Amino acid sequence: MCGIAGYVGARPAAPILLDSLQRLEYRGYDSCGIAVLGDAGVFVRRSVSPISEFRNEVLPAAPEGTIGLAHTRWATHGRADLANAHPLVSCDGKILVVHNGVLENAFELRDRLIAQGHRFTSETDSETIPHLLEQALAEGRTMDEAVAKLPEQLVGSYAIVAMREGHDELYLLRSGSPLVVGIGDGEYFPASDIPSFLPYAQRVIYLHENDPFAVGRKGIRRLGSGGTAAEAVPPLPQPVSLNVESVSKGSFEHFMIKEIMEQVAAIARLTDAPPPSLATAAELMRGASSVKFVGAGTSYHAGLFGQFLMGTLLHTDSEACVSSEFEFRADTLRPGSVVIAMSQSGETADTLQAVRFARDRGARVIGLVNSESSSLTRAADVVIPLRSGPELSVAATKSYTSQLVALNLLVEHLAADPTGVARTILQARDSLYELTSDSARSYMASLAHSLARHNHLLLIGRGGHYVTALEAALKIKEVAGFASQAFPGGEMKHGPLALVGEGSPVILFYDRSQLARAELAASELGTRGAAIYTVGPQPLRSSSLHIRVNDAGVATPIAQIVPMQLLAYELAKLRQLDPDHPRNLAKSVTVL
Ligand code: M6R
Repeated sequence: MCGIAGYVGARPAAPILLDSLQRLEYRGYDSCGIAVLGDAGVFVRRSVSPISEFRNEVLPAAPEGTIGLAHTRWATHGRADLANAHPLVSCDGKILVVHNGVLENAFELRDRLIAQGHRFTSETDSETIPHLLEQALAEGRTMDEAVAKLPEQLVGSYAIVAMREGHDELYLLRSGSPLVVGIGDGEYFPASDIPSFLPYAQRVIYLHENDPFAVGRKGIRRLGSGGTAAEAVPPLPQPVSLNVESVSKGSFEHFMIKEIMEQVAAIARLTDAPPPSLATAAELMRGASSVKFVGAGTSYHAGLFGQFLMGTLLHTDSEACVSSEFEFRADTLRPGSVVIAMSQSGETADTLQAVRFARDRGARVIGLVNSESSSLTRAADVVIPLRSGPELSVAATKSYTSQLVALNLLVEHLAADPTGVARTILQARDSLYELTSDSARSYMASLAHSLARHNHLLLIGRGGHYVTALEAALKIKEVAGFASQAFPGGEMKHGPLALVGEGSPVILFYDRSQLARAELAASELGTRGAAIYTVGPQPLRSSSLHIRVNDAGVATPIAQIVPMQLLAYELAKLRQLDPDHPRNLAKSVTVL
Protein backbone atom coordinates (compact mmCIF):
# COMPACT_ATOMS: atom_id res chain seq x y z
CA MET A 1 0.00 0.00 0.00
CA CYS A 2 2.57 2.51 -1.24
CA GLY A 3 6.19 2.20 -0.25
CA ILE A 4 8.13 5.13 1.09
CA ALA A 5 11.84 5.46 1.64
CA GLY A 6 14.23 8.17 2.73
CA TYR A 7 17.95 8.51 3.12
CA VAL A 8 20.18 10.92 4.99
CA GLY A 9 23.88 10.29 5.52
CA ALA A 10 27.22 10.81 3.82
CA ARG A 11 26.69 8.87 0.60
CA PRO A 12 24.85 9.97 -2.55
CA ALA A 13 21.18 9.40 -1.78
CA ALA A 14 19.83 8.58 -5.25
CA PRO A 15 21.37 5.09 -5.82
CA ILE A 16 20.36 4.01 -2.32
CA LEU A 17 16.82 5.33 -2.68
CA LEU A 18 16.31 3.71 -6.07
CA ASP A 19 17.63 0.44 -4.73
CA SER A 20 15.32 0.68 -1.70
CA LEU A 21 12.41 1.49 -3.97
CA GLN A 22 12.90 -1.75 -5.89
CA ARG A 23 12.62 -3.69 -2.67
CA LEU A 24 9.42 -1.83 -1.84
CA GLU A 25 7.81 -2.45 -5.22
CA TYR A 26 5.57 -5.20 -3.82
CA ARG A 27 3.71 -2.50 -1.87
CA GLY A 28 2.42 -0.81 -5.02
CA TYR A 29 3.64 -0.13 -8.53
CA ASP A 30 1.21 2.34 -10.14
CA SER A 31 3.83 5.10 -10.28
CA CYS A 32 7.07 6.07 -8.55
CA GLY A 33 9.18 9.11 -7.79
CA ILE A 34 12.27 10.47 -6.09
CA ALA A 35 13.57 13.78 -4.76
CA VAL A 36 17.17 14.56 -3.79
CA LEU A 37 18.56 17.78 -2.39
CA GLY A 38 21.57 18.71 -4.52
CA ASP A 39 23.86 21.76 -4.74
CA ALA A 40 21.69 23.18 -7.50
CA GLY A 41 18.47 22.81 -5.50
CA VAL A 42 15.89 20.04 -5.45
CA PHE A 43 16.06 17.29 -8.05
CA VAL A 44 12.66 15.64 -8.57
CA ARG A 45 11.65 12.91 -11.00
CA ARG A 46 8.41 10.94 -11.27
CA SER A 47 7.32 8.15 -13.57
CA VAL A 48 4.63 5.62 -14.37
CA SER A 49 7.23 3.17 -15.71
CA PRO A 50 8.34 0.12 -13.74
CA ILE A 51 10.91 0.98 -11.09
CA SER A 52 13.72 -0.84 -12.93
CA GLU A 53 13.25 1.45 -15.96
CA PHE A 54 12.85 4.51 -13.76
CA ARG A 55 16.10 3.67 -12.02
CA ASN A 56 17.99 3.50 -15.33
CA GLU A 57 16.58 6.84 -16.42
CA VAL A 58 17.21 8.65 -13.15
CA LEU A 59 20.61 7.39 -12.04
CA PRO A 60 22.73 9.15 -14.68
CA ALA A 61 20.95 12.46 -14.09
CA ALA A 62 20.70 12.48 -10.29
CA PRO A 63 22.89 14.87 -8.26
CA GLU A 64 25.32 13.65 -5.59
CA GLY A 65 23.12 15.04 -2.78
CA THR A 66 23.12 13.02 0.44
CA ILE A 67 19.52 13.53 1.53
CA GLY A 68 16.39 12.47 -0.30
CA LEU A 69 13.13 10.57 -0.37
CA ALA A 70 11.30 8.23 -2.72
CA HIS A 71 7.91 6.61 -3.22
CA THR A 72 6.20 3.77 -5.05
CA ARG A 73 2.44 4.22 -5.28
CA TRP A 74 -0.68 2.10 -5.00
CA ALA A 75 -3.37 4.52 -6.15
CA THR A 76 -6.30 5.36 -3.87
CA HIS A 77 -7.14 9.07 -4.34
CA GLY A 78 -6.50 10.00 -7.96
CA ARG A 79 -5.62 7.98 -11.04
CA ALA A 80 -2.35 6.15 -11.51
CA ASP A 81 -0.75 8.88 -13.62
CA LEU A 82 2.23 11.18 -13.54
CA ALA A 83 0.41 14.12 -11.97
CA ASN A 84 -0.52 11.99 -8.97
CA ALA A 85 2.92 10.42 -8.51
CA HIS A 86 4.83 11.37 -5.35
CA PRO A 87 6.82 13.28 -4.11
CA LEU A 88 4.18 15.98 -3.84
CA VAL A 89 5.29 19.54 -3.34
CA SER A 90 4.20 22.82 -1.80
CA CYS A 91 3.34 25.81 -4.04
CA ASP A 92 6.90 27.14 -3.80
CA GLY A 93 8.33 23.69 -4.61
CA LYS A 94 10.46 23.76 -1.46
CA ILE A 95 8.63 21.24 0.70
CA LEU A 96 8.51 17.69 -0.62
CA VAL A 97 6.42 14.92 0.84
CA VAL A 98 5.91 11.20 0.33
CA HIS A 99 2.86 9.67 2.00
CA ASN A 100 1.39 6.23 2.51
CA GLY A 101 -2.17 5.98 3.81
CA VAL A 102 -5.53 7.61 3.20
CA LEU A 103 -6.60 11.01 4.51
CA GLU A 104 -10.30 10.95 5.22
CA ASN A 105 -10.63 14.73 5.53
CA ALA A 106 -8.66 15.46 2.35
CA PHE A 107 -11.52 17.23 0.54
CA GLU A 108 -12.20 19.50 3.49
CA LEU A 109 -8.48 20.30 3.87
CA ARG A 110 -8.07 20.90 0.16
CA ASP A 111 -11.01 23.37 0.08
CA ARG A 112 -9.59 25.24 3.04
CA LEU A 113 -6.08 25.37 1.59
CA ILE A 114 -7.36 26.51 -1.82
CA ALA A 115 -9.30 29.28 -0.06
CA GLN A 116 -6.00 30.26 1.57
CA GLY A 117 -4.43 30.58 -1.89
CA HIS A 118 -2.70 27.20 -2.34
CA ARG A 119 -2.55 25.69 -5.81
CA PHE A 120 -2.96 21.93 -6.21
CA THR A 121 -1.42 20.05 -9.10
CA SER A 122 -2.65 16.50 -8.31
CA GLU A 123 -5.90 14.77 -7.40
CA THR A 124 -4.31 13.11 -4.39
CA ASP A 125 -5.25 13.41 -0.74
CA SER A 126 -1.50 13.40 0.00
CA GLU A 127 -0.88 16.77 -1.62
CA THR A 128 -2.66 18.47 1.25
CA ILE A 129 0.37 17.64 3.44
CA PRO A 130 3.06 19.82 1.77
CA HIS A 131 0.51 22.64 1.56
CA LEU A 132 -0.40 22.29 5.25
CA LEU A 133 3.28 22.48 6.13
CA GLU A 134 3.77 25.48 3.86
CA GLN A 135 0.75 27.19 5.40
CA ALA A 136 2.07 26.62 8.92
CA LEU A 137 5.43 28.12 7.95
CA ALA A 138 3.64 31.11 6.40
CA GLU A 139 1.86 31.58 9.73
CA GLY A 140 5.21 31.85 11.47
CA ARG A 141 5.75 28.31 12.73
CA THR A 142 9.05 26.49 12.48
CA MET A 143 9.28 23.29 10.40
CA ASP A 144 9.38 21.26 13.65
CA GLU A 145 6.18 22.91 14.82
CA ALA A 146 4.53 22.52 11.42
CA VAL A 147 5.20 18.76 11.40
CA ALA A 148 4.22 18.33 15.06
CA LYS A 149 0.90 20.07 14.30
CA LEU A 150 -0.08 17.62 11.53
CA PRO A 151 -1.74 15.06 13.85
CA GLU A 152 -4.26 17.76 14.85
CA GLN A 153 -5.02 18.44 11.20
CA LEU A 154 -5.03 15.03 9.51
CA VAL A 155 -7.81 12.47 9.88
CA GLY A 156 -7.06 9.00 8.54
CA SER A 157 -3.91 6.96 8.17
CA TYR A 158 -0.51 8.27 7.29
CA ALA A 159 3.17 7.50 7.15
CA ILE A 160 4.96 10.64 6.04
CA VAL A 161 8.51 11.53 5.13
CA ALA A 162 8.98 15.25 4.38
CA MET A 163 11.99 17.27 3.28
CA ARG A 164 12.54 20.99 2.95
CA GLU A 165 14.94 22.72 0.61
CA GLY A 166 17.81 24.27 2.54
CA HIS A 167 17.32 21.89 5.50
CA ASP A 168 19.45 18.84 6.11
CA GLU A 169 16.90 16.71 7.92
CA LEU A 170 14.01 14.45 7.00
CA TYR A 171 10.79 14.81 9.01
CA LEU A 172 8.89 11.67 9.97
CA LEU A 173 5.39 11.04 11.22
CA ARG A 174 3.07 8.06 11.23
CA SER A 175 -0.37 6.99 12.37
CA GLY A 176 -2.10 3.83 11.22
CA SER A 177 0.47 3.20 8.45
CA PRO A 178 3.89 1.67 9.02
CA LEU A 179 7.10 3.71 9.19
CA VAL A 180 10.39 2.46 10.61
CA VAL A 181 13.89 3.93 10.62
CA GLY A 182 16.93 1.88 9.65
CA ILE A 183 19.99 2.99 11.59
CA GLY A 184 23.35 2.73 9.83
CA ASP A 185 26.69 4.24 10.69
CA GLY A 186 25.89 7.96 10.64
CA GLU A 187 23.06 7.32 8.20
CA TYR A 188 19.29 6.94 8.55
CA PHE A 189 16.84 5.09 6.34
CA PRO A 190 13.21 5.87 7.11
CA ALA A 191 11.05 3.38 5.22
CA SER A 192 7.73 1.57 5.08
CA ASP A 193 9.47 -1.60 6.06
CA ILE A 194 12.76 -3.29 6.80
CA PRO A 195 13.57 -5.08 3.49
CA SER A 196 13.92 -1.67 1.89
CA PHE A 197 17.17 -0.87 3.73
CA LEU A 198 18.42 -4.34 4.55
CA PRO A 199 21.78 -4.12 2.70
CA TYR A 200 22.58 -0.83 4.49
CA ALA A 201 21.37 -1.01 8.07
CA GLN A 202 21.11 -3.74 10.67
CA ARG A 203 19.26 -1.86 13.39
CA VAL A 204 15.78 -0.43 13.31
CA ILE A 205 13.59 1.95 15.28
CA TYR A 206 9.85 1.40 15.24
CA LEU A 207 8.10 4.75 15.36
CA HIS A 208 5.06 5.13 17.57
CA GLU A 209 1.78 6.66 16.43
CA ASN A 210 1.83 10.43 16.13
CA ASP A 211 5.31 10.67 17.60
CA PRO A 212 7.14 12.93 15.11
CA PHE A 213 10.90 12.77 14.55
CA ALA A 214 13.57 14.44 12.46
CA VAL A 215 16.64 12.56 11.22
CA GLY A 216 19.82 14.18 9.96
CA ARG A 217 23.49 13.40 9.84
CA LYS A 218 23.78 14.45 13.46
CA GLY A 219 21.21 11.95 14.62
CA ILE A 220 17.55 11.41 15.33
CA ARG A 221 15.51 13.76 17.48
CA ARG A 222 11.93 13.83 18.68
CA LEU A 223 9.89 16.87 17.69
CA GLY A 224 7.69 18.79 20.10
CA SER A 225 9.18 16.98 23.09
CA GLY A 226 8.80 20.00 25.31
CA GLY A 227 12.55 20.18 25.69
CA THR A 228 13.18 17.73 28.53
CA ALA A 229 16.04 15.33 27.89
CA ALA A 230 13.97 12.26 28.81
CA GLU A 231 11.20 13.16 26.37
CA ALA A 232 13.67 13.75 23.58
CA VAL A 233 15.13 10.23 23.73
CA PRO A 234 14.06 8.23 20.65
CA PRO A 235 12.80 4.63 20.95
CA LEU A 236 15.65 2.12 21.36
CA PRO A 237 16.99 0.61 18.12
CA GLN A 238 16.31 -3.12 17.75
CA PRO A 239 18.51 -5.54 15.81
CA VAL A 240 17.19 -6.61 12.41
CA SER A 241 16.81 -10.37 12.11
CA LEU A 242 16.33 -10.62 8.31
CA ASN A 243 19.13 -11.19 5.85
CA VAL A 244 19.52 -9.85 2.32
CA GLU A 245 19.07 -13.29 0.67
CA SER A 246 15.65 -13.64 2.24
CA VAL A 247 14.43 -10.55 0.38
CA SER A 248 16.09 -11.14 -2.98
CA LYS A 249 15.01 -13.42 -5.83
CA GLY A 250 18.31 -15.27 -5.96
CA SER A 251 18.36 -17.48 -9.05
CA PHE A 252 14.57 -17.45 -9.39
CA GLU A 253 12.75 -15.48 -12.05
CA HIS A 254 10.08 -14.21 -9.69
CA PHE A 255 9.48 -13.98 -5.95
CA MET A 256 6.31 -16.02 -6.37
CA ILE A 257 8.09 -19.13 -7.62
CA LYS A 258 10.86 -18.69 -5.06
CA GLU A 259 8.28 -18.51 -2.28
CA ILE A 260 6.34 -21.53 -3.59
CA MET A 261 9.57 -23.52 -3.54
CA GLU A 262 10.42 -22.34 -0.01
CA GLN A 263 7.34 -24.00 1.44
CA VAL A 264 8.99 -27.23 2.52
CA ALA A 265 11.57 -25.31 4.54
CA ALA A 266 8.99 -22.87 5.91
CA ILE A 267 6.76 -25.65 7.15
CA ALA A 268 9.70 -27.53 8.62
CA ARG A 269 10.55 -24.45 10.70
CA LEU A 270 7.10 -24.66 12.28
CA THR A 271 6.86 -28.40 12.71
CA ASP A 272 10.42 -28.92 13.95
CA ALA A 273 10.18 -26.24 16.61
CA PRO A 274 6.54 -25.32 17.20
CA PRO A 275 6.15 -21.85 18.76
CA PRO A 276 5.69 -22.13 22.55
CA SER A 277 2.84 -19.62 22.30
CA LEU A 278 0.68 -22.37 20.75
CA ALA A 279 0.18 -23.77 24.25
CA THR A 280 -0.88 -20.37 25.64
CA ALA A 281 -3.22 -19.83 22.70
CA ALA A 282 -4.73 -23.29 23.17
CA GLU A 283 -5.29 -22.51 26.85
CA LEU A 284 -7.20 -19.33 25.89
CA MET A 285 -9.33 -21.32 23.47
CA ARG A 286 -10.04 -24.05 25.97
CA GLY A 287 -11.93 -21.67 28.21
CA ALA A 288 -13.45 -19.56 25.42
CA SER A 289 -17.17 -18.90 25.21
CA SER A 290 -16.86 -18.53 21.42
CA VAL A 291 -14.12 -18.59 18.80
CA LYS A 292 -14.00 -16.50 15.65
CA PHE A 293 -11.37 -16.42 12.92
CA VAL A 294 -10.87 -13.14 11.04
CA GLY A 295 -8.74 -12.44 8.01
CA ALA A 296 -8.80 -11.01 4.50
CA GLY A 297 -8.24 -12.77 1.17
CA THR A 298 -5.99 -15.76 1.60
CA SER A 299 -5.87 -15.26 5.37
CA TYR A 300 -9.67 -15.50 5.44
CA HIS A 301 -9.40 -18.82 3.63
CA ALA A 302 -6.98 -19.98 6.30
CA GLY A 303 -9.62 -18.90 8.85
CA LEU A 304 -12.19 -21.07 7.05
CA PHE A 305 -9.77 -23.95 7.37
CA GLY A 306 -9.52 -23.22 11.11
CA GLN A 307 -13.30 -23.39 11.35
CA PHE A 308 -13.26 -26.68 9.44
CA LEU A 309 -10.59 -28.16 11.76
CA MET A 310 -12.43 -27.13 14.90
CA GLY A 311 -15.63 -28.68 13.62
CA THR A 312 -14.14 -31.96 12.44
CA LEU A 313 -11.41 -32.57 15.03
CA LEU A 314 -12.68 -30.78 18.12
CA HIS A 315 -16.42 -31.00 17.40
CA THR A 316 -16.56 -27.36 18.45
CA ASP A 317 -18.42 -24.49 16.88
CA SER A 318 -16.52 -21.49 15.53
CA GLU A 319 -16.98 -18.91 12.81
CA ALA A 320 -14.67 -17.56 10.12
CA CYS A 321 -15.36 -13.95 9.08
CA VAL A 322 -13.94 -11.76 6.36
CA SER A 323 -12.25 -8.92 8.28
CA SER A 324 -14.10 -6.16 6.43
CA GLU A 325 -17.46 -7.76 7.36
CA PHE A 326 -16.56 -8.34 10.98
CA GLU A 327 -18.31 -5.24 12.26
CA PHE A 328 -21.63 -6.98 11.50
CA ARG A 329 -20.66 -9.99 13.66
CA ALA A 330 -18.74 -8.18 16.37
CA ASP A 331 -21.75 -7.68 18.64
CA THR A 332 -22.04 -11.43 19.08
CA LEU A 333 -18.74 -11.28 21.04
CA ARG A 334 -18.75 -11.46 24.82
CA PRO A 335 -15.98 -11.21 27.39
CA GLY A 336 -14.54 -14.72 27.21
CA SER A 337 -14.77 -14.80 23.41
CA VAL A 338 -11.57 -15.45 21.50
CA VAL A 339 -10.79 -13.90 18.13
CA ILE A 340 -8.04 -15.47 16.04
CA ALA A 341 -6.73 -12.77 13.70
CA MET A 342 -4.88 -14.19 10.71
CA SER A 343 -2.50 -12.08 8.64
CA GLN A 344 0.73 -12.49 6.73
CA SER A 345 1.66 -8.83 6.95
CA GLY A 346 0.04 -8.04 10.28
CA GLU A 347 -0.76 -4.66 8.74
CA THR A 348 -4.03 -5.30 6.89
CA ALA A 349 -6.24 -2.40 7.95
CA ASP A 350 -9.48 -4.41 7.85
CA THR A 351 -8.01 -7.08 10.10
CA LEU A 352 -6.58 -4.55 12.54
CA GLN A 353 -9.97 -2.88 12.69
CA ALA A 354 -11.60 -6.26 13.41
CA VAL A 355 -9.11 -6.66 16.27
CA ARG A 356 -10.19 -3.28 17.66
CA PHE A 357 -13.85 -4.32 17.47
CA ALA A 358 -12.93 -7.48 19.37
CA ARG A 359 -10.97 -5.64 22.03
CA ASP A 360 -13.73 -3.06 22.55
CA ARG A 361 -16.05 -5.94 23.38
CA GLY A 362 -13.68 -7.58 25.82
CA ALA A 363 -12.63 -10.49 23.59
CA ARG A 364 -9.10 -11.92 23.78
CA VAL A 365 -7.08 -11.86 20.57
CA ILE A 366 -4.71 -14.50 19.21
CA GLY A 367 -2.64 -13.24 16.26
CA LEU A 368 -1.41 -15.74 13.68
CA VAL A 369 1.08 -13.54 11.92
CA ASN A 370 4.09 -13.82 9.66
CA SER A 371 5.64 -10.38 10.03
CA GLU A 372 6.67 -10.35 13.66
CA SER A 373 7.39 -6.62 13.78
CA SER A 374 3.86 -5.75 12.66
CA SER A 375 0.96 -3.90 14.25
CA LEU A 376 -0.98 -7.14 14.76
CA THR A 377 1.89 -8.51 16.82
CA ARG A 378 1.55 -5.55 19.14
CA ALA A 379 -2.25 -5.67 19.24
CA ALA A 380 -2.71 -9.38 20.02
CA ASP A 381 -2.73 -10.96 23.49
CA VAL A 382 -0.95 -14.03 22.18
CA VAL A 383 1.09 -14.18 18.98
CA ILE A 384 1.68 -17.37 17.01
CA PRO A 385 4.49 -16.55 14.58
CA LEU A 386 4.26 -18.24 11.18
CA ARG A 387 8.01 -18.06 10.56
CA SER A 388 7.68 -18.40 6.80
CA GLY A 389 10.18 -15.60 6.19
CA PRO A 390 9.57 -12.45 4.13
CA GLU A 391 6.90 -12.96 1.47
CA LEU A 392 7.33 -10.35 -1.24
CA SER A 393 5.21 -11.61 -4.09
CA VAL A 394 1.74 -10.05 -3.88
CA ALA A 395 0.22 -13.53 -3.97
CA ALA A 396 0.29 -15.27 -0.61
CA THR A 397 1.78 -18.76 -0.99
CA LYS A 398 4.14 -19.94 1.75
CA SER A 399 2.36 -17.85 4.38
CA TYR A 400 -0.88 -19.69 3.53
CA THR A 401 0.54 -23.18 3.95
CA SER A 402 2.23 -22.03 7.16
CA GLN A 403 -1.11 -20.69 8.39
CA LEU A 404 -2.71 -24.09 7.74
CA VAL A 405 0.13 -25.86 9.53
CA ALA A 406 -0.05 -23.49 12.51
CA LEU A 407 -3.80 -24.07 12.78
CA ASN A 408 -3.24 -27.82 12.74
CA LEU A 409 -0.61 -27.45 15.45
CA LEU A 410 -2.98 -25.35 17.52
CA VAL A 411 -5.76 -27.88 17.20
CA GLU A 412 -3.28 -30.65 18.05
CA HIS A 413 -3.01 -29.08 21.54
CA LEU A 414 -6.76 -29.42 22.01
CA ALA A 415 -7.49 -32.65 20.17
CA ALA A 416 -8.45 -35.94 21.79
CA ASP A 417 -5.90 -37.65 19.52
CA PRO A 418 -2.93 -35.26 19.27
CA THR A 419 -0.66 -37.96 17.83
CA GLY A 420 -3.08 -38.51 14.97
CA VAL A 421 -3.09 -34.78 14.17
CA ALA A 422 0.69 -34.61 14.34
CA ARG A 423 0.94 -37.55 11.95
CA THR A 424 -1.27 -35.94 9.30
CA ILE A 425 0.73 -32.70 9.45
CA LEU A 426 3.94 -34.59 8.76
CA GLN A 427 2.33 -36.58 5.95
CA ALA A 428 1.22 -33.34 4.29
CA ARG A 429 4.65 -31.80 4.80
CA ASP A 430 6.41 -34.80 3.30
CA SER A 431 4.34 -34.77 0.13
CA LEU A 432 5.49 -31.18 -0.49
CA TYR A 433 8.94 -32.42 -1.60
CA GLU A 434 7.45 -34.05 -4.66
CA LEU A 435 4.88 -31.31 -5.26
CA THR A 436 7.57 -28.65 -5.50
CA SER A 437 9.90 -30.70 -7.71
CA ASP A 438 10.89 -29.67 -11.23
CA SER A 439 8.74 -32.39 -12.72
CA ALA A 440 5.69 -31.16 -10.77
CA ARG A 441 6.36 -27.70 -12.09
CA SER A 442 6.52 -28.80 -15.71
CA TYR A 443 3.40 -30.91 -15.25
CA MET A 444 1.52 -27.82 -14.06
CA ALA A 445 2.95 -25.83 -16.96
CA SER A 446 1.38 -28.35 -19.34
CA LEU A 447 -1.95 -28.05 -17.51
CA ALA A 448 -1.64 -24.27 -17.83
CA HIS A 449 -1.23 -24.71 -21.60
CA SER A 450 -4.39 -26.73 -21.87
CA LEU A 451 -6.34 -24.19 -19.79
CA ALA A 452 -4.97 -21.06 -21.42
CA ARG A 453 -7.48 -21.07 -24.31
CA HIS A 454 -10.44 -20.98 -21.89
CA ASN A 455 -11.68 -17.91 -20.12
CA HIS A 456 -13.50 -19.43 -17.17
CA LEU A 457 -12.58 -22.06 -14.64
CA LEU A 458 -14.66 -23.78 -11.95
CA LEU A 459 -13.07 -25.32 -8.87
CA ILE A 460 -14.99 -27.55 -6.51
CA GLY A 461 -14.41 -29.45 -3.29
CA ARG A 462 -16.07 -30.38 -0.02
CA GLY A 463 -15.07 -29.56 3.55
CA GLY A 464 -11.37 -28.66 3.72
CA HIS A 465 -11.14 -29.14 -0.04
CA TYR A 466 -13.69 -26.40 -0.59
CA VAL A 467 -11.22 -24.13 1.20
CA THR A 468 -8.56 -25.28 -1.29
CA ALA A 469 -10.95 -24.54 -4.16
CA LEU A 470 -11.52 -21.01 -2.82
CA GLU A 471 -7.84 -20.34 -2.35
CA ALA A 472 -6.88 -21.81 -5.73
CA ALA A 473 -9.56 -19.68 -7.44
CA LEU A 474 -8.25 -16.55 -5.72
CA LYS A 475 -4.66 -17.31 -6.75
CA ILE A 476 -5.59 -17.98 -10.38
CA LYS A 477 -7.78 -14.84 -10.56
CA GLU A 478 -5.23 -12.65 -8.88
CA VAL A 479 -2.03 -13.76 -10.57
CA ALA A 480 -3.23 -14.97 -13.98
CA GLY A 481 -6.21 -12.62 -14.41
CA PHE A 482 -8.30 -15.70 -15.19
CA ALA A 483 -11.98 -15.78 -14.16
CA SER A 484 -12.19 -18.66 -11.71
CA GLN A 485 -14.92 -19.53 -9.25
CA ALA A 486 -15.05 -21.97 -6.38
CA PHE A 487 -18.12 -23.87 -5.17
CA PRO A 488 -18.75 -26.51 -2.53
CA GLY A 489 -19.10 -29.84 -4.35
CA GLY A 490 -22.71 -30.30 -3.31
CA GLU A 491 -23.78 -26.88 -4.57
CA MET A 492 -23.24 -27.46 -8.27
CA LYS A 493 -26.75 -28.67 -8.94
CA HIS A 494 -28.20 -25.70 -7.10
CA GLY A 495 -27.15 -23.28 -9.82
CA PRO A 496 -23.50 -23.32 -10.93
CA LEU A 497 -24.05 -26.36 -13.15
CA ALA A 498 -25.69 -23.95 -15.59
CA LEU A 499 -22.19 -22.62 -16.31
CA VAL A 500 -20.95 -25.99 -17.51
CA GLY A 501 -20.94 -26.81 -21.23
CA GLU A 502 -18.88 -28.74 -23.78
CA GLY A 503 -15.22 -28.59 -22.75
CA SER A 504 -15.73 -26.35 -19.68
CA PRO A 505 -12.73 -26.91 -17.40
CA VAL A 506 -13.52 -27.96 -13.84
CA ILE A 507 -10.94 -28.78 -11.16
CA LEU A 508 -12.12 -31.20 -8.50
CA PHE A 509 -10.36 -31.64 -5.11
CA TYR A 510 -10.96 -34.62 -2.83
CA ASP A 511 -9.32 -37.14 -0.53
CA ARG A 512 -9.76 -40.86 -0.12
CA SER A 513 -12.70 -40.52 2.28
CA GLN A 514 -14.60 -38.59 -0.40
CA LEU A 515 -13.86 -40.80 -3.41
CA ALA A 516 -17.41 -42.05 -3.97
CA ARG A 517 -18.92 -38.59 -3.83
CA ALA A 518 -16.19 -37.18 -6.03
CA GLU A 519 -16.92 -39.88 -8.65
CA LEU A 520 -20.56 -38.87 -8.56
CA ALA A 521 -19.81 -35.17 -8.94
CA ALA A 522 -17.36 -35.87 -11.76
CA SER A 523 -19.87 -37.99 -13.63
CA GLU A 524 -22.57 -35.29 -13.24
CA LEU A 525 -20.14 -32.79 -14.71
CA GLY A 526 -18.79 -35.18 -17.35
CA THR A 527 -22.22 -35.94 -18.75
CA ARG A 528 -22.62 -32.21 -19.32
CA GLY A 529 -19.40 -32.05 -21.31
CA ALA A 530 -17.00 -30.72 -18.64
CA ALA A 531 -13.27 -31.41 -18.94
CA ILE A 532 -12.45 -32.74 -15.48
CA TYR A 533 -9.09 -32.13 -13.86
CA THR A 534 -8.69 -33.94 -10.56
CA VAL A 535 -6.51 -33.31 -7.52
CA GLY A 536 -6.53 -36.20 -5.08
CA PRO A 537 -4.87 -39.50 -4.09
CA GLN A 538 -6.03 -41.32 -7.26
CA PRO A 539 -7.73 -40.39 -10.53
CA LEU A 540 -11.47 -40.65 -11.03
CA ARG A 541 -13.11 -42.55 -13.89
CA SER A 542 -13.81 -39.31 -15.76
CA SER A 543 -10.51 -37.50 -15.01
CA SER A 544 -9.05 -35.98 -18.18
CA LEU A 545 -5.92 -35.03 -16.27
CA HIS A 546 -4.95 -35.99 -12.74
CA ILE A 547 -2.67 -34.35 -10.19
CA ARG A 548 -1.71 -36.82 -7.51
CA VAL A 549 -1.65 -35.50 -3.95
CA ASN A 550 -1.22 -38.12 -1.26
CA ASP A 551 -3.80 -38.37 1.44
CA ALA A 552 -2.92 -36.67 4.70
CA GLY A 553 -6.34 -36.77 6.36
CA VAL A 554 -7.65 -33.35 7.38
CA ALA A 555 -4.20 -31.85 6.68
CA THR A 556 -4.39 -32.71 2.96
CA PRO A 557 -5.26 -29.08 1.97
CA ILE A 558 -1.74 -28.07 3.06
CA ALA A 559 -0.36 -30.08 0.15
CA GLN A 560 -3.23 -29.72 -2.30
CA ILE A 561 -2.85 -25.99 -2.76
CA VAL A 562 0.77 -26.23 -3.94
CA PRO A 563 0.06 -27.49 -7.50
CA MET A 564 -2.59 -24.78 -7.77
CA GLN A 565 -0.06 -22.10 -6.83
CA LEU A 566 2.18 -23.46 -9.57
CA LEU A 567 -0.73 -23.47 -12.00
CA ALA A 568 -1.51 -19.81 -11.24
CA TYR A 569 2.15 -18.94 -11.72
CA GLU A 570 2.50 -20.81 -15.02
CA LEU A 571 -0.80 -19.42 -16.33
CA ALA A 572 0.36 -15.89 -15.55
CA LYS A 573 3.59 -16.46 -17.43
CA LEU A 574 1.74 -17.95 -20.42
CA ARG A 575 -0.44 -14.87 -20.49
CA GLN A 576 2.66 -12.70 -20.29
CA LEU A 577 1.67 -11.25 -16.95
CA ASP A 578 4.11 -10.45 -14.18
CA PRO A 579 3.10 -12.89 -11.40
CA ASP A 580 4.73 -10.75 -8.73
CA HIS A 581 2.78 -7.64 -9.65
CA PRO A 582 -0.85 -8.41 -10.44
CA ARG A 583 -2.88 -5.57 -11.90
CA ASN A 584 -4.40 -3.15 -9.36
CA LEU A 585 -3.10 -5.03 -6.33
CA ALA A 586 -0.52 -4.47 -3.61
CA LYS A 587 0.93 -6.78 -1.02
CA SER A 588 -0.31 -5.28 2.21
CA VAL A 589 -3.56 -3.38 2.19
CA THR A 590 -3.11 -0.82 4.93
CA VAL A 591 -6.23 1.22 4.13
CA LEU A 592 -9.85 0.40 4.97
O1 M6R B 1 -1.25 -9.65 4.98
P1 M6R B 1 -2.59 -10.30 5.06
O2 M6R B 1 -2.50 -11.77 5.19
O3 M6R B 1 -3.47 -9.70 6.11
O4 M6R B 1 -3.26 -9.99 3.65
C1 M6R B 1 -4.59 -10.33 3.39
C2 M6R B 1 -4.90 -10.27 1.92
O5 M6R B 1 -4.74 -8.98 1.43
C3 M6R B 1 -4.00 -11.23 1.10
O6 M6R B 1 -4.10 -12.53 1.56
C4 M6R B 1 -4.39 -11.20 -0.38
O7 M6R B 1 -5.66 -11.77 -0.56
C5 M6R B 1 -3.32 -11.93 -1.17
N1 M6R B 1 -2.82 -11.06 -2.19
C6 M6R B 1 -3.80 -13.19 -1.77
O8 M6R B 1 -2.82 -13.85 -2.51
